[in-house]
Amino acid sequence: MKAPQRIGVLTAGGDCPGLNAVIRAVSKNAIYHDMEVLGIEDGFLGLIENRIRPLDYEDVSNILTVGGTILGASNKANPRQHVTGFDEDGEPVREDVTADCLAHLDQHGIEALVVIGGDGSMAVAADLVDLGVPCVGVPKTIDNDVWGTEITFGFLTAVDTATRALDRIHTTAASHHRAMVVEVMGRNAGWIALHAGVASGSDVILIPEIPFRDDKICEVVEDRSKRGKRFTVICVAEGARPRGGEQVVKRVDPTSPEPVRLGGVGQVVADEIEECTGIESRHVVLGHVQRGGSPVPRDRVLSTLFGSHAAQLLRDGRLDRMVAWQRGGLLDIGIREPAGRQRLVPPDDPLVGAARRIFTSFGD
Ligand code: F6P
Repeated sequence: MKAPQRIGVLTAGGDCPGLNAVIRAVSKNAIYHDMEVLGIEDGFLGLIENRIRPLDYEDVSNILTVGGTILGASNKANPRQHVTGFDEDGEPVREDVTADCLAHLDQHGIEALVVIGGDGSMAVAADLVDLGVPCVGVPKTIDNDVWGTEITFGFLTAVDTATRALDRIHTTAASHHRAMVVEVMGRNAGWIALHAGVASGSDVILIPEIPFRDDKICEVVEDRSKRGKRFTVICVAEGARPRGGEQVVKRVDPTSPEPVRLGGVGQVVADEIEECTGIESRHVVLGHVQRGGSPVPRDRVLSTLFGSHAAQLLRDGRLDRMVAWQRGGLLDIGIREPAGRQRLVPPDDPLVGAARRIFTSFGD
């Protein structure tokens, strides 16, 4: 395929540290190859609503270290099922507005798109590829669960933020002889909880992939207490659930392609510990703190590598690929491959084994 002269870039789904670093790398690299770059605002929503503007060298300067995304993001836009209003029962009315998206791309002379997003966004990009719009994907999520890549940018920053929080929780837990439960993000994959839990020396780590038992968690707290350790730190992923039980849902947003928002398992676990052990317990939800702020150096590097590789793919006319990281190196895979799949923590992950062998409990 021929290299495009004019490309569009968008940041879809929830935001993530390192998005600006990717926008910068894609744009500067494209400009280096004499391509024109246009920024599409708020992910696929801007494509639907025709909010598209040129990005020149100055626009993408000085953004390497800045959190968030200069283009804005939205996790409420899928051109195939765009919410255009509500019926009399308050249910969203959906329309396929893909033709509008194609018309907007045409109007701006955009020949190819760089889609920076998670698995859902890659599925939308794959759909556009089928309609004749060449797309290159850059995987993004702090959850680190995009299939086909061993790491996504933003994950290490989220782990850093969560670890620092857990370190602080450790000292107050010890002072007050409490069980402290820290809820971190991770809808279906427990990568953040696993890495931050190990990095902070948490006593219990609860992840969605390993259903927990309340009695096992209480046993750990009581055992520690008997051994004179008068506090326990528990790191729980928002998507963790008890064996045979359900995830804790915080809200349902019917206008979003992924309507369920999780949250609250930290409080449930803390209440249970207090009830079964009599030991005073507290919970903290870190929430979107993990998605904000400046990316750590490794995420800046990863974002630069990913963005640069995406632009190289465009230049080489390889236009239905997703950038990925596997076995310590940068490569690319088919953009359709991650759709509908997720990279979860395998129960025999080496870090799970290492944690177990230093007496960290997974509540199972
Ligand atoms: O997928 C990334 C993520 O941060 C999840 O960990 C979390 O469940 C979700 O997004 C939160 O989404 P929102 O910003 O819409 O509340």
